[in-house]
Amino acid sequence: MKALILVGGFGTRLRPLTLSFPKPLVDFANKPMILHQIEALKSIGVTEVVLAINYQPEVMLNFLKEFEANLGMKITCSRETEPLGTAGPLALARDKLINDSGEPFFVLNSDVISEYPLSEMIRFHKSHGGEASIMVTKVDEPSKYGVVVLEEGTGKVKRFVEKPRIFVGNKINAGIYLLNPSVLDRIQLRPTSIEKEVFPKISADQGLFAMVLPGFWMDIGQPRDYIIGLRLYLESLRNRSSSKLAVGPHIVGNVLVHESVVIGEGCLIGPDVAIGANCVVESGVRLSRCTVMRGVRIKKHACVSNSIVGWYSTVGRWARIENMSILGEDVHICDEIYSNGGVVLPHKQIKSNILKPEIVL
Ligand code: GDD
Ligand code: MG
Repeated sequence: MKALILVGGFGTRLRPLTLSFPKPLVDFANKPMILHQIEALKSIGVTEVVLAINYQPEVMLNFLKEFEANLGMKITCSRETEPLGTAGPLALARDKLINDSGEPFFVLNSDVISEYPLSEMIRFHKSHGGEASIMVTKVDEPSKYGVVVLEEGTGKVKRFVEKPRIFVGNKINAGIYLLNPSVLDRIQLRPTSIEKEVFPKISADQGLFAMVLPGFWMDIGQPRDYIIGLRLYLESLRNRSSSKLAVGPHIVGNVLVHESVVIGEGCLIGPDVAIGANCVVESGVRLSRCTVMRGVRIKKHACVSNSIVGWYSTVGRWARIENMSILGEDVHICDEIYSNGGVVLPHKQIKSNILKPEIVL
């Protein structure tokens, strides 16, 4: 089976992290976002993944080359010369997606995280015999997503409304699709929205079916949702393979610590923390609801909560980084600094307090 992952877009909502890496390569729970998806696809027998990309394909491909060998999968790029939206890239990659077998292929948005119940989705697709299957999930604020109205029992989609202004329902498109090759005949090679132009038509032809996604789901394309997504991911890891989570007197709740991390005496870590490779956490540090990316040093008695510390940064002694502070790559926070939210661009040294959300240039 084949799959296409939509990896276009500039990831502006996840700056400053996306100033260093394209969004799909930003770490989530100690590995690049896109690896979570590629591994899930591999586990159900997908052999070839096409990355639909519209900028920096070299960065992405260089990075994925080593994983390609490790995973034993073919990973190729389909590059747009202009952004083709969420459907146009499928037309561009048409020849890569179809083969003689006529089997369906997966399409994934690159910024969604879940347990990826893809085998269940294949079963669902076979059971209804329609042209396309999508996963849906319930959310409290449906207006920022594609809302899907279903026929109870069959899952047939009655309406698909992208980013509705008025309430039409609370089940939303989770950005995970399984499509028959015939869907490609509906898409022209031009900027096209699959949500606005393709799904409503398949639905009108009675060929679009939706399956309610079991387990958690989150679009982690912005910091607040990224931090909520980490909590949900770690909770799910606790249920699926708890041996991957850290244990010890200094650990509270669900915490993921890379095996290379060095942790000093008297720390309190958790809940909902991920610490990446080669980090050093000195003694007396307190970490909660945060991500510390690879190569970071957190100095003695510092405290980080509800925040993201980008690659190779340092947090000084007794510093407090909290309330949605997002530090880019290679940021150095001096001792005793207090950050009450805000974004710090890569390669900066911070010597004075950040008391309100602001961008430190
Ligand atoms: N190749 C390519 N080219 N990819 C693109 C382009 C493009 O021009 N534009 C967007 N993408 C990719 C993004 O990288 C992302 O993986 C996916 O398409 C969806 O784009 P987003 O910008 O993240 O859309 P959204 O989050 O506002 O809405 C989408 O996702 C929601 C779920 O998170 C829609 O599919 C909604 O219906 C859905 O509910
Ligand atoms: Mg998104």
